[in-house]
Amino acid sequence: MKILNIYYSATGNTEKIANVISETAKKEEHEVETIRITKESSDIDIELLSYDFVFAGSGVYQWLPGKPIQEFFTKMLWKYFEKGEIKPAAPRRSNKKAVLYCTYGGVHTGINEAIPAVKYMGQLFDHLGFTIIAEWYFVGEYRSKKLTPFSTIGRMGNIKGRPNENDLKDVSERVKGILKV
Ligand SMILES: Cc1cc2nc3c(=O)[nH]c(=O)nc-3n(C[C@H](O)[C@H](O)[C@H](O)COP(=O)(O)O)c2cc1C
Repeated sequence: MKILNIYYSATGNTEKIANVISETAKKEEHEVETIRITKESSDIDIELLSYDFVFAGSGVYQWLPGKPIQEFFTKMLWKYFEKGEIKPAAPRRSNKKAVLYCTYGGVHTGINEAIPAVKYMGQLFDHLGFTIIAEWYFVGEYRSKKLTPFSTIGRMGNIKGRPNENDLKDVSERVKGILKV
């Protein structure tokens, strides 16, 4: 399958997940293109409809994906809307699948503060007629100096070092499984 692996990562946590997605999908003999969205590249143009399968992920910032990937999604939404590819009732496109995921710290309300981010990202693909076959939530420690204490004092307990080796093994197993769907 032709796979797009697109992500935003401000402090490197989501990048670790994205790298495992890419390595695993390649080992499974898929054709994978991995693109990291940054502040500088949020206006990049990607032909989303040319892929069979999309993984899209981001760190969570104030309950939503990072601003650069939000901007990218807005650009894509308007591009496809103007082309008439976003249709009322969002009919499904056969063989187009998407997996959305995030890494999050959840210090205040746990996974609840990450759910809007994943739902937000899913909507672009749902509007385009992709079938969303999974939503994944991975824990990611707070890597800014100011917020370091959040990695030990919140609802998630001690999340230092996450995503860790076990988390990354979990990602690899999930990718192998989901690509069989
Ligand atoms: C400035 C800042 C704000 C954050 N805000 C949230 C938040 O609102 N909710 C949450 O669950 N995690 C929050 N986090 C934790 C990040 O989502 C988590 O560390 C994530 O793994 C970062 O991913 P990235 O390095 O790929 O961007 C925040 C982290 C930082 C540094």
